[in-house]
Amino acid sequence: MRTQVAIIGSGPAGLLLGQLLTNAGIDNIILDRVSKDYILGRVRAGVLEEGMVDMLDRAGAGERMHREGLPHDGFSLAFDGRDHRIDLFGLTGRRVMVYGQTELTHDLMDKREASGDSSVYEATNVTPHDFDGAGPYVTYEKDGVTHRIDCDFIAGCDGYHGVSRKSVPESALKSYERIYPFGWLGILAEVPPVSHELIYANHPRGFALCSMRSHTRSRYYIQCALDEKIEDWSDDRFYDELRRRLPAEHAESMVTGPSFEKSIAPLRSFVAEPMRFGKLFLVGDAAHIVPPTGAKGLNLAASDVYYLFDGLLGYYADKSSAGIDAYSERALKRVWRAVRFSWSMTTMLHRFPDTGEFGQKIQEAELDYLVSSKAASTALAENYVGLPY
Ligand code: FAD
Ligand code: DHB
Repeated sequence: MRTQVAIIGSGPAGLLLGQLLTNAGIDNIILDRVSKDYILGRVRAGVLEEGMVDMLDRAGAGERMHREGLPHDGFSLAFDGRDHRIDLFGLTGRRVMVYGQTELTHDLMDKREASGDSSVYEATNVTPHDFDGAGPYVTYEKDGVTHRIDCDFIAGCDGYHGVSRKSVPESALKSYERIYPFGWLGILAEVPPVSHELIYANHPRGFALCSMRSHTRSRYYIQCALDEKIEDWSDDRFYDELRRRLPAEHAESMVTGPSFEKSIAPLRSFVAEPMRFGKLFLVGDAAHIVPPTGAKGLNLAASDVYYLFDGLLGYYADKSSAGIDAYSERALKRVWRAVRFSWSMTTMLHRFPDTGEFGQKIQEAELDYLVSSKAASTALAENYVGLPY
């Protein structure tokens, strides 16, 4: 088999890149080690920057998002027993879109199916080869048969645990990492959200986030210890703890109901540099991870795709390598800004085991400054809605 771009990974990065390439007449094949249903069963991000919204539109997959997504003009920082609104639209003239990663993935998969492009799910032992030479190819197994795809380029869109980054010689890669000493326990429940905007709460008992997927579906998170066990968290215990961390007006009005998803996610910052090795490109979580505070993970996958697609388009349409040569540097510049923002939001909003009451006071002073200074609120808002591509 032969294609122009072999894409490893059918998450948002792989699907978005595949669709943009298809629309531009550039042949591509997507390989994933799990099934479509498995991918659609994962509950992940929920807040899209305008850049991501534009990319979905460019891919021709934005129609349902505009119909069902919820544009948000602000969010609340809750501390000291009350809400402090950050007026995203007033401060930046921009807003975010609340639309689940699951839905966006669904839309991109549907669009790909309608385009009739090749995707291979449940492909095992996917392996990139010879990306440092002139003839890169990818091998994989399916139903006991080994297949080979020759290509011009390989896009490693296979997430943090994927094979692409691991195929690069260690000496060619520099990684930067920070592991945080806590996780997020999250639930999804068919109950109306406690507020029409997101609430990020700093509380002496720990961070809490009230988010949503629609007017009838809520996504709630609380900071938890890394060794917490899901089995120990009944829905009642979860809601009790969440209510304790919120201002009284929200705790009292919160509608509760059975969760249908509950999971614990660790928090980590990670960046691998560079993001290109010969004809292999790392895209999205394959190259970097951010803690979820600030909702940047999915949005960074979109900006990586923007830069890579721009480079590939230049290569195929104008026979210029300038864009692919600049890919890693352009993408990393934006990645590090989002890594900084996610780290600072995480640091400002969570309880750290070793900072004590002093740490709590410093956080409250920082939050107080943030909400009382227009300059500081604007800086926060500008990063939250997404820095320009
Ligand atoms: P992924 O979505 O991880 O897609 C990678 C794909 O590659 C997967 O389908 C995988 O099956 C496939 N793959 C992996 N290995 C191989 C292989 N060897 N061969 C073939 N295919 C392979 N971000 C936020 O902004 N907010 C959140 O609330 C949030 N919550 C998250 C919760 C969890 C549990 C996780 C893991 C991430 C969360 N994120 C969140 C981050 C966000 O979901 C990711 O940044 C986003 O999914 C990145 O997209 P991607 O396409 O780069 O990677
Ligand atoms: C969601 C997750 C986030 O990390 C965030 O900052 C906002 C919303 C969510 O899952 O809805």
